Amino acid sequence: MTVTLSDGRPMPRLGLGTWPMDDEEARQAVTHAVSLGYRLIDTAASYGNEAGVGAAVAEASVAREELFVTTKLRGSHHGYDAAMRGFEESRARLGLEYVDLYLIHWPLPGRDLYADTWRAFVHLREQGLARSIGVSNFTPEQIERVAGETGVWPAVNQVELHPGFAQRDLRAWHAEHGIVTESWSPLGRGRKLLGEPVVADLAAAHGRTPAQIVLRWHLQLGAVPIPKSADPERMRQNLEVFDFGLAEEEMAQLGDLDDPGGRMGGDPDTHVEL
Ligand SMILES: NC(=O)c1ccc[n+]([C@@H]2O[C@H](COP(=O)([O-])OP(=O)(O)OC[C@H]3O[C@@H](n4cnc5c(N)ncnc54)[C@H](OP(=O)(O)O)[C@@H]3O)[C@@H](O)[C@H]2O)c1
Repeated sequence: MTVTLSDGRPMPRLGLGTWPMDDEEARQAVTHAVSLGYRLIDTAASYGNEAGVGAAVAEASVAREELFVTTKLRGSHHGYDAAMRGFEESRARLGLEYVDLYLIHWPLPGRDLYADTWRAFVHLREQGLARSIGVSNFTPEQIERVAGETGVWPAVNQVELHPGFAQRDLRAWHAEHGIVTESWSPLGRGRKLLGEPVVADLAAAHGRTPAQIVLRWHLQLGAVPIPKSADPERMRQNLEVFDFGLAEEEMAQLGDLDDPGGRMGGDPDTHVEL
């Protein structure tokens, strides 16, 4: 199952998150995930596991073209030249000819270099080294600025998204602008969200696990979730979400968990990441 990005390329509807795995954990997890059928792998320069992800891709049982590898530029490499260097460093660690999706990890508005950084991304796409380019943790204003200065819109914005922080306005804005919403921390990092009574009730009603109910919610919103698991059984269940559906009222019940203050990670306007 894929979604077509605004640049015409297909992106898998669900992927494996790899933070906070180290190289060896990532190598093992990605190898197992690919054998289960995962095709999208999410890593980042700042995770410190690109070499492990790349090793798993090199050893994978499927061809490179069948995999969709995403990595992200870290904050220390904002600016045109630094971004070009950062990409080459990631590519070397991954051991890949190209990445499928390259994201600016955080906008870091205080440094005001994200527009120059985006110019480098546009060139990397023109060179075919990054097949698709996008952003992460960007606001609509920041996206409008990079698109206005280059004429190239990000294909994807990867943002914190789960029923406890549902980002309705941002998702609607993405849809209006042909940007795919990719959900980080799609399970709300496990703990509280998966124990919510409404999630447990829907799981019981469908004969599914709480995580499967939440991942199905993402798919039905049109978002691309990237749940992290290093556990073979949880990896398997997280992928088995394409053969059932939630009714409109069940989607609405999950929607009631939304809390505008439910953000768990950094705020794009203030977060500093190096
Ligand atoms: N762009 C960004 O700024 C940004 C920020 C944060 C994260 N991310 C990306 O998004 C990915 C996912 O986010 P996340 O890791 O923060 O949170 P998450 O995927 O919502 O939750 C991961 C946690 O849930 C557990 N889990 C996974 N599947 C489960 C299941 N079926 N049942 C119960 N528990 C389950 C995992 O433990 P086990 O491993 O033990 O299964 C882990 O503790 C990251 O790995 C990373 O690739 C991006």
